[in-house]
Order: sequence, then structure tokens, then C-alpha cells
Amino acid sequence: MRIGLSYDLKETVAIQQTGCDDAYEEYDSPETVELIAASLETEGHVAVMLGGGREFLENILRHQVDFIFNIAEGRGTHRSREAQVPSILEMLDIPYSGSDPQCLAISLDKPLTKKLVASAGVHTPKWCVITDSQGLYQKEANGFPFPAIVKPAYEGSSKGIRLTSVVEDSNQAIEVIESLLGKYQQPVMIEEFIAGDEVTMGIVGNSPPRVLGMMRILPKRRDGHFVYSLEVKRDYLNLVEYECPVHLERKVLHNLEHSGLAAFEALGCRDFARVDFRVSPQGIPYFLEINPLPGLGTHSDLVIMAKRLGWSHQGLIAAVLNTALERCPQCVRV
Ligand SMILES: Nc1ncnc2c1ncn2[C@@H]1O[C@H](COP(=O)(O)OP(=O)(O)OP(=O)(O)O)[C@@H](O)[C@H]1O
Ligand SMILES: [Mg+2]
Repeated sequence: MRIGLSYDLKETVAIQQTGCDDAYEEYDSPETVELIAASLETEGHVAVMLGGGREFLENILRHQVDFIFNIAEGRGTHRSREAQVPSILEMLDIPYSGSDPQCLAISLDKPLTKKLVASAGVHTPKWCVITDSQGLYQKEANGFPFPAIVKPAYEGSSKGIRLTSVVEDSNQAIEVIESLLGKYQQPVMIEEFIAGDEVTMGIVGNSPPRVLGMMRILPKRRDGHFVYSLEVKRDYLNLVEYECPVHLERKVLHNLEHSGLAAFEALGCRDFARVDFRVSPQGIPYFLEINPLPGLGTHSDLVIMAKRLGWSHQGLIAAVLNTALERCPQCVRV
């Protein structure tokens, strides 16, 4: 098959957008795109590079492709940015891998996602959204339990989440909230801080989706609260250890699986996703957020997890592609 690859490269977006020092964190490197293309070609397909933004628009109209493998994060700071490419593909009636625009748009909005996931019976930390700095704390978050974490409402890749994001009282909270409101031009959320194990889960498949595996993220130095922050993700080799498979009680693992799959289904995810949890000291998994477009580069959590479980990069890409192709049998020529 001729498979188009839609993606946004850090270097391309950096020329077009300005912003904070982490503005391009979610975008991909040429190495990641080349790795995915190589995996698709080893599977016997022809990879057609389509890029992102305007370049993608021109290319998708010019090139004939049977299917799109989509990893485009979208442009701007809009909360629906991940839905941009899939929306165009739906308009042009071109099948693609991964979740649909509605799921992608909702999942980047953490408070909205938490509402849906909570209504499916999954535990998620208490939260409160703050939209502007006018009397922000007194009005909206008074009485919020501490410690808490303050984060932008519509970001990923730990953008806006630093070692200083955990706050112990309302004065600290106001300081971080004001700084994030100024920098990220979007609402901010304050969330109950769950001290406990950090576990991320990979899910692949449809009807039914299955848990590919779980990975515990352990700090190498245990001083103070652990946050898998931007600083830690950028220096993960020195700062964390990954444990996969996860050695937690069987009941906790069962509850994690149940919560991850319930979240995947409540949001209408397709093909694959990565779900982040904190497990409280009492063994209760708390849903933090879901990534229906998780990173697929060598240093991404899903790829690290899959490799620990014996998958090659090609095997993972093939699993995602094949589960997506099962949804659209008209794409597969016999
Ligand atoms: N309520 C919380 N309690 C404890 N830790 C938290 C909480 N919320 C976030 N964190 C910490 O901050 C990290 C990043 O938060 P979160 O997963 O919400 O951000 P993200 O930018 O969407 O992440 P990703 O890189 O997975 O897209 C978490 O992995 C966790 O270590
Ligand atoms: Mg996360």
C-alpha cells in the first residue's frame, strides 16, 4: 500500500510559531519520522512523506495514497489542534490511523476528559479550572486540598509542568497559576497531588482494545515529591528508572487495567493510546490523562515499554497499522 505519513517537525514549526521555551516539545524529530517510515517500508508498504500544516494540505491534494499513518500534533495552541489533520482526512474521505477528531480534541482538554472518565467510574484526582487571574484564588479554588499540582489545561509532553509545579499552599498556588496563565494563553488547572507510584499504560486494538503493557516510572533520587516533569523527561536516562513489567500487587494491576480500558472506551479512542496514572499509597489508581496520539520515537514511553516487552519498533508500528486497517477493509487490496 502507499501510506502517507502526516507529522509536524520541531524544526519546521519552530520557524513559524513563537512562544515559551517548551513551545515545540510535542513535535517530532526527523529521526522519529524516518524510523516510522522505515518500519512501514519493512512491512512492505511505500511511505509517502506528507508533513504537516500547509505543506500537508498541498501534499495530500497532490499525492495518491491509500491510507495515512498520522502522528501530526497540529498547529497553534488551540485545544483541538490534534484534530486538524484527521478532520481534513475525514473531509477528503481518506482513511487514517488513530483516533477521530472528536476524541483527539477532547483528550487534549484535560478537565473535559476527566469529567468523561469520572462519569465512567474511573478515579481521577480532584481538580478545579482557573480561566483568568481576576480574584482567581479566592473565587475558584478556595479550600482546595494541598499539596496540589498546577498545570496548563490543554497541553502534553509535560509542557508547563516543572519541578516547581507542586504547591503546598494557596500563596504558592497563586504564583504558579499567574505565571502559567501569562505564558500559555489558556486556562490552568489545579489538581490534587497524588503521592504514589507513577504508571503509564499502552493500549492497542479495537473491539476489544487490549493492554499492551504497563511501565512504572521510578525516580533515581528520592527527595521530595516526584513529578515526571519536563526537566525529568528531557534527562530521563539520568533521572528515572523504568520498570516493565510492573511489580505491583495483582489487584492493583487489575484495577489499573480496568481503569485504562474504561477511559479508552469512554473517550471513543481507536487503535492505540497511552494512559497515565498515579497509584495512591492505598493502591487506588488515579487517572491523570490519556494520549490518543502518543509519541512513537525511540525515547517515547510507549516505545520504551514495548521494547521492554519484546516488541521491535516495526512490530509496534505494524500492530497499530493493522488494527487501523481492520477498521477499513476497503483499503486492503487482495
Ligand atoms: N495530580 C497529580 N498528582 C501527582 N502527579 C501528577 C499529577 N498530575 C500530573 N502529575 C505529574 O506530572 C506529570 C505530567 O503530567 P501530565 O501527564 O498531566 O502531563 P502531560 O504533559 O499531558 O504528559 P505527557 O508527556 O504524557 O503528554 C505526570 O506524569 C506526573 O508525574
Ligand atoms: Mg502524561
